[in-house]
Amino acid sequence: MNGLHLNAQRHFESEVVFGTRHLSALIQRDAIFFLYDESLPEAIIHPLLALDETKALGLPAGESAKTWAAVKRVMDHFETLNLSKSTTLCAIGGGALTDVAAFIGSMYLRGLKTILIPTTLLAMVDASIGGKTAINGRYKNRIGSFYPAAQILIDETILEKMPPHLVQEGMSEVIKIAAIQDEEFFIQLEDQTLSMMDIVKKAMQLKIEIVAKDLTDQHRRLLLNFGHTTAHALEAYHDYAYSHGACVAAGMVLETAEKPFGRRLLNVLNTYGCFTPIPYDKEALSPFFLGDKKRSHDHLHWIEIPRIGEAKVQQIPLAECLKKIPQHYPTLEEQHA
Ligand code: GLY
Repeated sequence: MNGLHLNAQRHFESEVVFGTRHLSALIQRDAIFFLYDESLPEAIIHPLLALDETKALGLPAGESAKTWAAVKRVMDHFETLNLSKSTTLCAIGGGALTDVAAFIGSMYLRGLKTILIPTTLLAMVDASIGGKTAINGRYKNRIGSFYPAAQILIDETILEKMPPHLVQEGMSEVIKIAAIQDEEFFIQLEDQTLSMMDIVKKAMQLKIEIVAKDLTDQHRRLLLNFGHTTAHALEAYHDYAYSHGACVAAGMVLETAEKPFGRRLLNVLNTYGCFTPIPYDKEALSPFFLGDKKRSHDHLHWIEIPRIGEAKVQQIPLAECLKKIPQHYPTLEEQHA
């Protein structure tokens, strides 16, 4: 044999814990450092406000934290504190905060044990679970790693008191996961028979099933991008003026405009207040498909749903993307009953 071969496996486990007062319990522990979204309501972060900068650091809200500058600031701070590998990093915030904190957690000392406390529905059911970490490059989430958090702590009080706009944003991702994977769950959402906590548990369980089979986005995990090719183009086209959840809802509606279940999908999105017809011009949208992370050379992965609960991945030429979406949002008359 002329050569050598290294075959090493990496093993990750994430534990999801449902309960209350997680933060107050964690604060009692030694060797833990908190990163939090400084715009969070005091009711959520009050246990952190008594801590000094050797224990906790606030980051700006939203996408402005997902930059190299923010990462450098935090890592320089960790260097000043001379943190050791035995330090646990705990992040409290929405998806943007958990994305950047988990990115830092994956990089610093080649990996700190990371705990996430998501404070938005979107972060609970999507961003915090599955180990994608990210900061933004030229396009959103272009720089990152796969590093599942050791624990994801879901706080029932945060969920109960969540403002409606954050529930609407997260419900787009919940409806997405039901649409690609579980028609029974989709029907429960249509019939509004589940509590919010049951919705979170079911959506997280479905995502866990996908990620357990394909952590690094090679095949099955790509299904989670249903609606997202168009959503990411819409987000960039509007310079991120619309929320991710709103763009995902609009993306799913556009990508299924011709489908027999298109009206059903639109109805359930409307039930939870998720859908806004975000304006677009089809031709002008075209260049924004180029930023898609699922692109390889001149092809990209398009998520096709022949029927609710049964999604599949298709490789299509980039130029075909535009043909998949209509000139305008479908009217009720245009959609199948
Ligand atoms: N948000 C899509 C994924 O986790 O793969």
